[in-house]
Amino acid sequence: MSRFKTLLLFIIFCIFSSCYIPSPAIASDHDPSSKGFIHCLTKKSIPPWLIHKRSSSSYTPILKSSIRNPKFLNTTASTTPLCIVMAKKTSHIQAAVVCGRRHRVRVRARSGGHDYEGLSYRAEGRLERFAVVDLSGMRSVRVDAARGTAWVQSGATLGELYHAIWSSAPRLGFAAGVCPTVGVGGHFSGGGFGMLQRKYGLAVDHVVNATLVDARGDLLGRDAMGEDLFWAIRGGGGGSFGIVVSWHIKLVPVPPTVTVFDVVRTPERGAIDVLTKWQEIAPRLPDDIMVRVIAEPRRVTFEAMYLGTCDELLPLMHHRFPDLAMQRADCNEMTWIESIPYIHLGSNATVADILNRSSISRVNTKNRSDYVRQPIPKSIWKKIFAKLQQLTNFGEVQLFIDPYGAKISRIHESATPFPHREGVLYNIQYITYWNGDANGTLALKWSRDLYKFMEPYVSKNPREAYANYRDLDLGRNKVVNGISSYHHGKVWGEKYFRANFERLAKVKAMVDPDDYFRNEQSIPPLFE
Ligand SMILES: Cc1cc2nc3c(=O)[nH]c(=O)nc-3n(C[C@H](O)[C@H](O)[C@H](O)COP(=O)(O)OP(=O)(O)OC[C@H]3O[C@@H](n4cnc5c(N)ncnc54)[C@H](O)[C@@H]3O)c2cc1C
Ligand SMILES: *[C@@H]1O[C@H](CO)[C@@H](O)[C@H](O)[C@H]1NC(C)=O
Ligand SMILES: *[C@@H]1O[C@H](CO)[C@@H](O)[C@H](O)[C@H]1NC(C)=O
Ligand SMILES: *[C@@H]1O[C@H](CO)[C@@H](O)[C@H](O)[C@H]1NC(C)=O
Ligand SMILES: *[C@@H]1O[C@H](CO)[C@@H](O)[C@H](O)[C@H]1NC(C)=O
Ligand SMILES: *[C@@H]1O[C@H](CO)[C@@H](O)[C@H](O)[C@H]1NC(C)=O
Ligand SMILES: *[C@@H]1O[C@H](CO)[C@@H](O)[C@H](O)[C@H]1NC(C)=O
Repeated sequence: MSRFKTLLLFIIFCIFSSCYIPSPAIASDHDPSSKGFIHCLTKKSIPPWLIHKRSSSSYTPILKSSIRNPKFLNTTASTTPLCIVMAKKTSHIQAAVVCGRRHRVRVRARSGGHDYEGLSYRAEGRLERFAVVDLSGMRSVRVDAARGTAWVQSGATLGELYHAIWSSAPRLGFAAGVCPTVGVGGHFSGGGFGMLQRKYGLAVDHVVNATLVDARGDLLGRDAMGEDLFWAIRGGGGGSFGIVVSWHIKLVPVPPTVTVFDVVRTPERGAIDVLTKWQEIAPRLPDDIMVRVIAEPRRVTFEAMYLGTCDELLPLMHHRFPDLAMQRADCNEMTWIESIPYIHLGSNATVADILNRSSISRVNTKNRSDYVRQPIPKSIWKKIFAKLQQLTNFGEVQLFIDPYGAKISRIHESATPFPHREGVLYNIQYITYWNGDANGTLALKWSRDLYKFMEPYVSKNPREAYANYRDLDLGRNKVVNGISSYHHGKVWGEKYFRANFERLAKVKAMVDPDDYFRNEQSIPPLFE
């Protein structure tokens, strides 16, 4: 074939596949392609008041509106978006993708903004040029009480979803995260678990359809997506395959009364003993009960939710977990919807409080996660608590320890991209808190040391981590010839997805071969 023919074919290919030719570029306010991008958005009838440019006074307040961690408010430490599009309709999302490809601007979707590394609104690479499509204006929840299903848009928070379900179907609920300000879009993209995980599994285990804007700007439902892509978006992590506009979910039954309790023990009064026993008891309890642990340097809280009454719960706990010495006075009976504010916001919070979207925290945090498949010996727990106590000079720490077993572990490891199923006893999330920059250096070093210390006692080959607890210390993408490298991606990818990582990468190659949807930890394409 002559060179001319090859070139012609390439041009034709580009026209029909709107192919993206990556080029190195520096972000700047006067960047011509940024101007072109914004001009294109307006031509595609996005009203100008929904487009917040760097130069406009609304840019910074909008950028910060859903930032959760004070450490990401320092915008000189990250690369910020060229502009923020506050999408109100699906066509706005499609326009952003089409214009983005035409003018070489990537888009990052932001739903609730709770990403642990802030990747929905900031980039680490200095050369990264991107716009944010903010979905907080697309948050309708349509509940079909008779069918027991709902369509929820990605910009809704979990609190808004739970509230809407309760308003139209009080005997139904949904199995997703504990914190009401988390966005549906990012949360469902990475799996989504909470106090109903042992009874019903993950949020994505109940997704039956979805609508997604793909890398061409087309809107696809489940049928048009095909089963591979539909599989990938249910847990393969946000920001890799397209922008999910809405999710069709099957709701789950909840009883009229649930019982919540907190039992607190100090290390001096047997906490380490009880925790050591908990490791083998909690994952094997009946599906209706979840007893999670919040470990702090000087106290351990066993926090539980039971799908039933205190009368039913007491004999169960006395029989199966006598060392906890739970008593009737520990019981708090309530409705399922009341348990949401109670568990996350405290006993005085009301159901209406879960509609509050504002979520900035006062302190800085760094989180990591582990999966545990073998109980950790008591002697090691003693050492762990000694380490937790060392931190108190310059920061604070909490370990959230969530038991698996029951439904979440019965679903096959390859049914969704989320692979931490059979054989997992529990997940540990290490949360390190600090105030001010000076203490951050010490707290971060401490947190790295603890993670290193834990290595022999947690899952291995790979050392697993939860994708929704994003941690860039696990690794990040390396771009080779304009495409994220599969080889480098495996380092972090197999920790989040185990053997499912390869299938995710093949789906990526099929649906976004140019690697348009890209961030520091997006799925790299694997070509056959
Ligand atoms: C306070 C707090 C409590 C939490 N509690 C839980 C919990 O109980 N259980 C649990 O499982 N997790 C929990 N998480 C983790 C949470 O699930 C993840 O951080 C999740 O990704 C947040 O979703 P978001 O929409 O708020 O985040 P965002 O920052 O908006 O998005 C996260 C990632 O997904 C991408 N994304 C966002 N929207 C879309 C979309 N519509 N389509 C495609 N990609 C998208 C973003 O680009 C980004 O890469 C918690 C997090 C926080 C901060
Ligand atoms: C913000 O980040 C920059 C660059 O990393 C750093 O020099 C500066 O001290 C930070 N500012 C604050 C207030 O932390
Ligand atoms: C770490 O997790 C805690 C508890 O869920 C959360 O409040 C905090 O915002 C998280 N940290 C980051 C950096 O997102
Ligand atoms: C999924 O939803 C789309 C959009 O509403 C609809 O067209 C399609 O028929 C649905 N597919 C399935 C399998 O339910
Ligand atoms: C709840 O409110 C009561 C009365 O106002 C107060 O005494 C109590 O300390 C509050 N409890 C919590 C956990 O905030
Ligand atoms: C919403 O929550 C924030 C703190 O997260 C609080 O300051 C504010 O008062 C709350 N708003 C309402 C209406 O309750
Ligand atoms: C570090 O932490 C200590 C103790 O909590 C506190 O007194 C100090 O002000 C903090 N330093 C900074 C720079 O925030």
